[in-house]
Amino acid sequence: MTTDQNCTSSRQCLCSETAPAPFVLVIFGASGDLTYRKLIPSLFNLFQRDLLPDKFSIVGCARTVMDDKAFRKLVSDSIREKFKNIPSKMIEVFCEGVFYTHGNYDSDETYSALSSKISDVESRHSGFAGRIFYLSVPSTIYSEIVRKLASSGLSPEPSEGQPYRRVIIEKPFGRDLQSSRQLEKELKEHLLERQIYRIDHYLGKDTVQNILMLRFANMIFEPLWNNKYIDNVQITVAESIGIEHRAGYFDKSGLLRDMFQNHMLEMLSLVAMEPPSSFDADRVRDEKLKLLSSIKAWEPDKISTEFVRAQYREAIVDGNKQQSYTEEDAVPKDSKTETFVAARLFINNWRWNGVPFYLRAGKRLRRRVSEIAVTFKNIPHSIFKPLMPEDIHQNTLVLNVQPEEGFALSIQAKKPGGKLCMGDLPMHFSYRDFFQGEPPDAYERLLLDCMLGDSTLFIRNDTIDISWTLLTPILERWAEDPSIPLASYPCGSWGPLEADAMIGKDGRKWRAP
Ligand SMILES: NC(=O)c1ccc[n+]([C@@H]2O[C@H](COP(=O)([O-])OP(=O)(O)OC[C@H]3O[C@@H](n4cnc5c(N)ncnc54)[C@H](OP(=O)(O)O)[C@@H]3O)[C@@H](O)[C@H]2O)c1
Repeated sequence: MTTDQNCTSSRQCLCSETAPAPFVLVIFGASGDLTYRKLIPSLFNLFQRDLLPDKFSIVGCARTVMDDKAFRKLVSDSIREKFKNIPSKMIEVFCEGVFYTHGNYDSDETYSALSSKISDVESRHSGFAGRIFYLSVPSTIYSEIVRKLASSGLSPEPSEGQPYRRVIIEKPFGRDLQSSRQLEKELKEHLLERQIYRIDHYLGKDTVQNILMLRFANMIFEPLWNNKYIDNVQITVAESIGIEHRAGYFDKSGLLRDMFQNHMLEMLSLVAMEPPSSFDADRVRDEKLKLLSSIKAWEPDKISTEFVRAQYREAIVDGNKQQSYTEEDAVPKDSKTETFVAARLFINNWRWNGVPFYLRAGKRLRRRVSEIAVTFKNIPHSIFKPLMPEDIHQNTLVLNVQPEEGFALSIQAKKPGGKLCMGDLPMHFSYRDFFQGEPPDAYERLLLDCMLGDSTLFIRNDTIDISWTLLTPILERWAEDPSIPLASYPCGSWGPLEADAMIGKDGRKWRAP
């Protein structure tokens, strides 16, 4: 158990984290990018922080032929790449719990080999342990793996009081409403809802969780959190990188599927939902569902004005040429896949009626930044004549999700100088500066929560269904109507002029993050 002395609770410290019970974590797709870059470093950091039980095992499984020794080498390379100056002995001890088995995901032999590997490692735990199956593979093979896990007896939950069996899946959860419902049907044939942990790694970030703390553990914001005081909300998820090695996946998917269905709507629901009655998985997820169900659906003839889609084009950025999307390796020259989307939406409820929410996300933008900016209304009357209310800057609260985690509140204050000399006073809180270090990686939080059986930060199927219900008509309209324009923007910019025009029609501007 670890305890954080920074706890502000006057009654008791609630910062302690408890190590879970013994478990076996099977990672399908263990030869892949996500395992190497995120899962292994996160598991190791939990181990370093004493948040893994004494008895735990990690079993990699993929088609790539490797033995335990070769996989342990890969694991230790991943750890060394992420963390500097880790004593070799510590990595060795961690690797004692690491194993590997290979085979095709659709072959019975793979699952019998996996089953005997699990029995071997479970004997280290003196019998039963909880089992987590992490599907770190392309989503097209989720159903196959889940079917085989069930038929081989690995995933069905044993009787009451026996250790759990859980399955973690990664986005994409389908590619439209129909395919997500099909995936769900196939998962539910073999698993109970409580066994399924759907990850959106944004929810594992401390700053995203902080949205709830900021709103519901303080008195000062919530009374203002409505259409009487808030002018608009902007959510930006900008990446400076392009599609890297993911052309095959991205060109079939596009930005709307890749970012809006999950991260963007998840952040929107946290910032706009009603207070849940408790910080309990189902109470929080009930409120998220209610919020998403209140988003006003876009009328078909408004889609081309309420959504701007665009693709990046060649530009010189910081002295280096960055090529157009259609020049990227493995992208068809005539691809119409969008790499940027901006949208405007409204929420049909008492709190938010009339407040526009502007969402934008894209690749090859000026810099990597994810933020939620809440802009308050102008003051109703100015006593500082000749300044008019619209001359005085609106207050803005910006929740910085990445890369700088924290938040900033801008207020108006007197500046040294003339009687009416006034300016923005930024009040800035940075996680790194205040807590003297980086917050843990989102995957650490989520892996630990899954081991502990806490699904608050995982996505329930009904919210996925409602988000696809909202977005599928947009995707269909884009696919059916070639006259809907695909704008372009130079690499290294903040997006196309059409996105500026969209928000400009409302007399507003995108924030420059
Ligand atoms: N990487 C990220 O940052 C990230 C972020 C968000 C979500 N995700 C999701 O997480 C999952 C894993 O991501 P990843 O980047 O690690 O994927 P990946 O590297 O493309 O694939 C993981 C492993 O799956 C196996 N695989 C790949 N293509 C396959 C195919 N067509 N059929 C069967 N097996 C195949 C490969 O292992 P073998 O050939 O050895 O079997 C590969 O090493 C995906 O669903 C992805 O969408 C990833």
